[in-house]
Amino acid sequence: MIEAPLFAMPPKALYVHIPFCSSKCFYCDFNSFVSSDAVRAAYVRALLVEISMLHDEQFGVHARPKLETIFFGGGTPTLLTSSEFTEVAKHIHALYDIGDETEWTVEANPGSVDRQKLSALWENGVNRLSFGAQTFNETLLQVIGRLHDAHDVEHSVHAAIEQGFTRINLDLMLGLPEQTLADVEESLHRALQTGVSHISAYGLKVEENTPFYKWQKEGLLHLPQEEAEVEMYEYVRAYLRDEGFAQYEISNFSKPFDEARHNLMYWENRSYLAVGAGAHGYTGNQRYENERSLSAYSEVIRQGKRPVASTHRVSATEAMEDTMMLGLRLQQGVERKRFFSFHGQELDAVFGSLLTTLCERGWIAQNNERVWIPPQYDEVANEIFSLFVGYL
Ligand SMILES: C[S@@+](CC[C@H](N)C(=O)[O-])C[C@H]1O[C@@H](n2cnc3c(N)ncnc32)[C@H](O)[C@@H]1O
Ligand code: SF4
Repeated sequence: MIEAPLFAMPPKALYVHIPFCSSKCFYCDFNSFVSSDAVRAAYVRALLVEISMLHDEQFGVHARPKLETIFFGGGTPTLLTSSEFTEVAKHIHALYDIGDETEWTVEANPGSVDRQKLSALWENGVNRLSFGAQTFNETLLQVIGRLHDAHDVEHSVHAAIEQGFTRINLDLMLGLPEQTLADVEESLHRALQTGVSHISAYGLKVEENTPFYKWQKEGLLHLPQEEAEVEMYEYVRAYLRDEGFAQYEISNFSKPFDEARHNLMYWENRSYLAVGAGAHGYTGNQRYENERSLSAYSEVIRQGKRPVASTHRVSATEAMEDTMMLGLRLQQGVERKRFFSFHGQELDAVFGSLLTTLCERGWIAQNNERVWIPPQYDEVANEIFSLFVGYL
């Protein structure tokens, strides 16, 4: 089996993980910690070193390659002070070619940004913000452990627009405890009134090691029935479609041309650089995960090494399965031309018989250009993905 051409494509996306939060939300198992200013400052120092090490290893000390997208995720990246953020941003600018066309997103918690911080983000090249609104129902916000209220979302988005940001996403959550369809409608209504151009709507996942997980085991978490959550999802799709948002991925909706290009890199199975505690990256034929704990992360860097905790060598066949599984999340599906350019083989030569079976069931549609899951089958998407895993 030949190695995939994909493995030779240089990464054009950078993910930076900022693992700090003011408090932990009851449902969240993202790698983030409630820490002191001193711990955060030490983390930033280690992060700067890691950014250099990764750059030099990938491209050589003198290269200044172009980045198409940058994403600061968390945790709460906006917990960095303006000067900490500026320091990291300037370092990235020094090592990489970043132009106006580079999409640079920062995740922000509502209420965690003021004019000064927004201005620091903007001045350093950030041109897209993603706020975790989750819901506009005040009681629900408390039930899920958020520190902000619904007005904070409105004020933060308003301040961001005043600063000049035109590309703003709001995250919403569905299937929250005792959430009703009326709550979802109210949240959508208020979300769109802020003027944002992108919405991510995630179904609640009860993750291990979260208070929600414990409460569910104790019978204290009253979640909507599965059918009710499906109804919420369908409602969101119809509502946003009527408001001029296109659904371009299972959980993502945008105004025309406002898709999250960074996330498209993941779904198109392109490689990407990642730095920060617990960050996952994909370079060459290797997926890697960084040390999750702040102490291990900083210690390994102090020893002059990249803080990689584990690596996984992706085989050429696994890469093809990934391209299908990830790409079928997109409304436009997997482009045949891209499949060939990534893997050096025609899509039909590899997955032809599986695609024929799925087409007969109606679960997959295809034409000369691409294959995709028809929108009415999005609810069986996970079942469809699982058929590609280990198929080759
Ligand atoms: C990395 S989080 C962080 C964003 C930011 N810290 C915030 O909370 O505003 C990104 C999004 O993932 C979603 N999320 C986190 N945990 C989830 C879970 N257990 N189930 C579903 N969605 C979740 C939330 O909508 C959240 O806004
Ligand atoms: S949802 Fe966001 S703010 Fe809440 S704990 Fe997770 S990363 Fe932190």
